[in-house]
Amino acid sequence: MSFRIQPATPARPNRCQLFGPASRPELFAKMAVSAADVINLDLEDSVAPNDKDKARKNAIDAINQIDWNNKYLSVRINGLDSPYWYRDIVDLLENAGERIDQIMIPKAGNAADIYAVDALVSSIEMAKNRKKKVSFEAIIETAAGLAHVEEIAAASPRMQALSLGAADYAASMGMQTTGIGGTQTDYYMLENGEPGSQRAMHWSDPWHMATVSIVAACRTHGLLPIDGPFGDISDDEGFRAQARRVATLGMAGKWAIHPKQVALANEVFTPSDEKISEAREIIAAMEKAKSEGLGATVYKGRLVDIASIKQAEVIVRQSEMIKG
Ligand code: COA
Ligand code: MG
Repeated sequence: MSFRIQPATPARPNRCQLFGPASRPELFAKMAVSAADVINLDLEDSVAPNDKDKARKNAIDAINQIDWNNKYLSVRINGLDSPYWYRDIVDLLENAGERIDQIMIPKAGNAADIYAVDALVSSIEMAKNRKKKVSFEAIIETAAGLAHVEEIAAASPRMQALSLGAADYAASMGMQTTGIGGTQTDYYMLENGEPGSQRAMHWSDPWHMATVSIVAACRTHGLLPIDGPFGDISDDEGFRAQARRVATLGMAGKWAIHPKQVALANEVFTPSDEKISEAREIIAAMEKAKSEGLGATVYKGRLVDIASIKQAEVIVRQSEMIKG
């Protein structure tokens, strides 16, 4: 084991990030009173090219005028391959007040992308005497982003989170699907058996490798790993299944691209009372074992040892952070 201690992630709840196009200002007040922990005002792909200037102005007005209460307030800028991103940053940081918390950088391909944004942001913060340093979240949604995920996570002390953007990721990887997250019909294993006989199909998770890569990069560098959009807003059970899968793999939260998804994300990423009491019981069982000079014991027929304390503490810490 490395002697370096794994850094803690930012101590703020990030169970749900609610997105809304900055070209639809009628949504802002509704977003502000939603139950999402994080709000993402979008200047990028939910805004048509002709609306970019108006959307940027709407976002600045919304940051300055709306009561965002305790929301972590983030703005998704346009990609570094576009003609819009520099103006997004300049106008936001010259004209929006200190209420903005975070800039979200889409389609990050390598550490230099983050460096470029950091250089521009740092210069404007100095010029305008801004007190709060804005944080960054990047979206891993290209082949290059996945290939360089660890250097992106480590690229700036401003980095607080990485999200997986399923749609652009699928396109960049050349995946044969138009689905945004969740089960993909053609990604299955077939039960062994006679050719031509009825054989069961088992669906696998095409997002698994990208998810785990993001979780590993984030946990190594003290960032929050977040799952991106689930496109079928009519399928609550599909959303829950996707969210439960990534929560099991270590992600801390998920996007909502419609207000009805907020409660679903909060439900999955808030540890249940049963899970919390079981975690506390495991910790207590191990305290008792340790007082008897033992490093392992049996809890409800299962082995628990020193590592089980750490697993249980993940759940207890998460619940305390959400309550606090
Ligand atoms: N945040 C807050 N409220 C929202 C909302 C959002 N993102 N999207 C819709 N609403 C509100 C509507 O205004 C409506 O409110 P009302 O009951 O007071 O009239 C209610 O929720 C139901 O909305 P609905 O009619 O089902 O949705 P819509 O057709 O207006 O919009 C989408 C559907 C998907 C286009 C819209 O939700 C949206 O733009 N989502 C975000 C897309 C985005 O940001 N993508 C980028 C990240 S992938
Ligand atoms: Mg995208």
